[in-house]
Amino acid sequence: MSLKFSDEATSKLEVLYGRYPSKQPVILAALHLAQKEFGDLRDEVIDLVGETLDLSSAHVYGVATFYTMFRRKPGGKTSVRVCTNVACMLRGGYDVLAAFEKKLGLKKGESNDDFSLIEEECIAACANAPAIVCGTKYFLDVTPDQVDEIVTFLKSNPHPESEVA
Ligand code: FES
Repeated sequence: MSLKFSDEATSKLEVLYGRYPSKQPVILAALHLAQKEFGDLRDEVIDLVGETLDLSSAHVYGVATFYTMFRRKPGGKTSVRVCTNVACMLRGGYDVLAAFEKKLGLKKGESNDDFSLIEEECIAACANAPAIVCGTKYFLDVTPDQVDEIVTFLKSNPHPESEVA
């Protein structure tokens, strides 16, 4: 059986199409929605995004494999991406990463059913370092003692979305 986007995802994409002269600029949003709906961007998901946006699978594959927030293999329901690049490192990013490792019982790069824990390069939130991103939602100025609260939030919101449309 071939894959299909949910009605909710299709509606979101249709709203986004209206903002641009073609469907191509919607590709990042479509890949986020696809990863949320199908868990990863395996070949058949890449094909679906291509068919949906009238783009070749090769084009979609090129975008999906360029950005580190997209994954081609299954992982936890929620990806916790902890930045340890320079600004975050200087303001305790490694302490935040260690707190997530302890709380989740995972080492960076590992997954269980609920979470994938990823050490990330700069996620463009340096002014509020240390930062993490889960789904499309950023958590800013994170301290290790906020990790319990963030994990509790993520367990009930496994696909958090940015408040910015
Ligand atoms: S260095 Fe962490 S957000 Fe830029």
